Amino acid sequence: MYQLIDGKAISAQIKKEIAEEVEAMVASGKKRPHLAVIIVGHDGGSESYVAGKVKDCADCGFISTLIRFEDDVTEETLLAEVDKLNKNEDVDGFIVQLPLPKHISESKVTEAIDYRKDVDGFHPVNVGRMSIGLSCFISATPSGIMELLRRYEIPTSGKNCVVIGRSNIVGKPVASLMMQKGYPGDATVTVCHSRTKNLKEICLNADIIIAALGQPEFLKADMVKDGVVIIDVGTTRVPSTETKSGFKLKGDVAFNEVAPKCSYITPVPGGVGLMTRIALMKNTLLAAKHEIY
Ligand code: GUN
Repeated sequence: MYQLIDGKAISAQIKKEIAEEVEAMVASGKKRPHLAVIIVGHDGGSESYVAGKVKDCADCGFISTLIRFEDDVTEETLLAEVDKLNKNEDVDGFIVQLPLPKHISESKVTEAIDYRKDVDGFHPVNVGRMSIGLSCFISATPSGIMELLRRYEIPTSGKNCVVIGRSNIVGKPVASLMMQKGYPGDATVTVCHSRTKNLKEICLNADIIIAALGQPEFLKADMVKDGVVIIDVGTTRVPSTETKSGFKLKGDVAFNEVAPKCSYITPVPGGVGLMTRIALMKNTLLAAKHEIY
């Protein structure tokens, strides 16, 4: 029988731990952690992500500030706001919600953020530091995955870990963390992608599979061995008549057929997704404590 990795319970537990730490900080005379969020335009996805971030801040006892710009804001104005937030001592960390309108360079904006306030962990300094094991902000999804492995005490040392997907925000960083010295880490990592040959054979040899390619129900039962640990990062919205919203989230793993072969598996929703939300809160607390410098 497989064990379900409960991202909902773990993220609620971490939220509680953060809120308790914040109250202790405030009681000892320190200021509340403060996250600022810049949103440009009115993209539906971005609006709901940002609303989630503001709510998470309230739950954790943080102050949050939402800064809004219309779609036609110039890159110059946005960069000026970033500069202001870099210098604002009351703001511990901030993010610029992506995607940005086409006339604005996302990499230019990301690189303009002071890496010590880059709680998204997207700045190249943080990415580089992470890859060589220095103090840094780790981006949300890889951080959430590592936290799940840690909380469930899943052994990783010497294990064959297969990462499917090579994106800059999930595949590459999680592969780098899984091969790093220490726990969770010390794994033998293989990264597979759209040009990989023998993907099935590679997966059949895996003790841990991290599926992050964004293709609903890609990983099937005949591609995994008994006892495998599955981390499903997929969150594709598919139309559905079963839900009020009119869509349903589907993972990259065919859950019903794969789960019986697993030792541990994350559900979608209720797995990695909720952990990514809490990772931003963890980074904001680190920023407020000046633990990344
Ligand atoms: N858009 C979707 N996810 C994210 C995220 O984690 N951070 C930012 N800045 N934009 C996003």
